[in-house]
Amino acid sequence: MAHRITLIPGDGIGPEVTEATVRVLEATGAAFKWDREEVVGAASVEAGGEPLPEAVIESIRSNSVALKGPVTTPVGKGFKSVNVQLRQKLDLFANVRPAKSLPGLDTPFKDVDMLIFRENTEGLYSGLESYDERHGIADSIARISKSGSERIIRFCFEYAKLHGRKQVTVVHKANILKLTSGMFLRLAHEVAEQYPGIEFQDRIVDNMCMQMVVRPQEYDCIVTTNLFGDILSDLAAGLVGGLGVIAGANIGEDCAVFEAVHGSAPDIAGQDKANPTALIRSAEMMLRHLHEFAAADALHAGLMEIYTEGKYLTGDLGGPCGTQEFSNRLAERVAAHV
Ligand code: NAI
Ligand code: MG
Repeated sequence: MAHRITLIPGDGIGPEVTEATVRVLEATGAAFKWDREEVVGAASVEAGGEPLPEAVIESIRSNSVALKGPVTTPVGKGFKSVNVQLRQKLDLFANVRPAKSLPGLDTPFKDVDMLIFRENTEGLYSGLESYDERHGIADSIARISKSGSERIIRFCFEYAKLHGRKQVTVVHKANILKLTSGMFLRLAHEVAEQYPGIEFQDRIVDNMCMQMVVRPQEYDCIVTTNLFGDILSDLAAGLVGGLGVIAGANIGEDCAVFEAVHGSAPDIAGQDKANPTALIRSAEMMLRHLHEFAAADALHAGLMEIYTEGKYLTGDLGGPCGTQEFSNRLAERVAAHV
């Protein structure tokens, strides 16, 4: 039976990497019926609609799974981030971002294999912002809840247990943010006690940034609040080949939205330059979420082959291929593994 999936191509490089990903997914042998939602973000606002139309939310609610390209958010003004709204409205509380070294890439670090679990609905992204015109004072409130913190921490430990991971590191700034980060850290210690088989440690976020670029191999699962997770996942991307290769999944109780860590990359949009690997790896996570394990394994095998060979990579990794050629070659390899 075909899986019904909401497909949001997004803008910037979104439509290019989404098309490439669909091509590769269709080579896995798994069957899909795509519910295309093309008009979101600026395109929707220009047409007189909401940045995130209710119909898009409804489509994801009814299909339970979406594959999504990046959507541009105006900086410092304009509409609220479609990406943040989607995560909040669907209560996609867990943002999972694996950063694993790929074969054949000449990166500063080898054998990196970490997973970042970012709380996805609270913290500084709560949308609690105000500006006091008279005094020239701006506030952005980092509100977190006990239940929201506990569920992402537990999600991380459960994932670690299920997948045989050895260690969890909680990242915080509890020395300064005593109430918010302090609570997150305390809850992490409490939850950790229920998982005696998993090594547990904590790091202050600034030190963690340094640790990650000096000895990234020493970290396994990392769980943290929204802003720290956002920053650390781009940092982790830099360790293993850049934003073009890092996948992500936004997971809630009822729905899941699979999207790359990177944004809409307006500097290279529409030029067939984007690396679709990040979204393709998100699609691999989606296949596993759908229990399409054989299809996921075929996709993975094809991708590892292309990277090990190193001849058909995209420009961001020093290769000669555009988005389309890369995905065509990858689709051929994937089909050969089905
Ligand atoms: P970005 O991730 O779009 O780009 C940062 C740099 O990485 C650029 O030089 C870009 O060319 C490069 N890059 C990104 N993805 C690439 C890929 N697949 N292949 C090759 N190179 C790639 O981040 P930036 O510039 O900060 O954000 C641009 C827009 O994207 C903003 O409006 C931002 O709000 C939005 N954004 C959306 C996200 C989402 O939809 N989930 C996530 C992050 C940002
Ligand atoms: Mg980000």
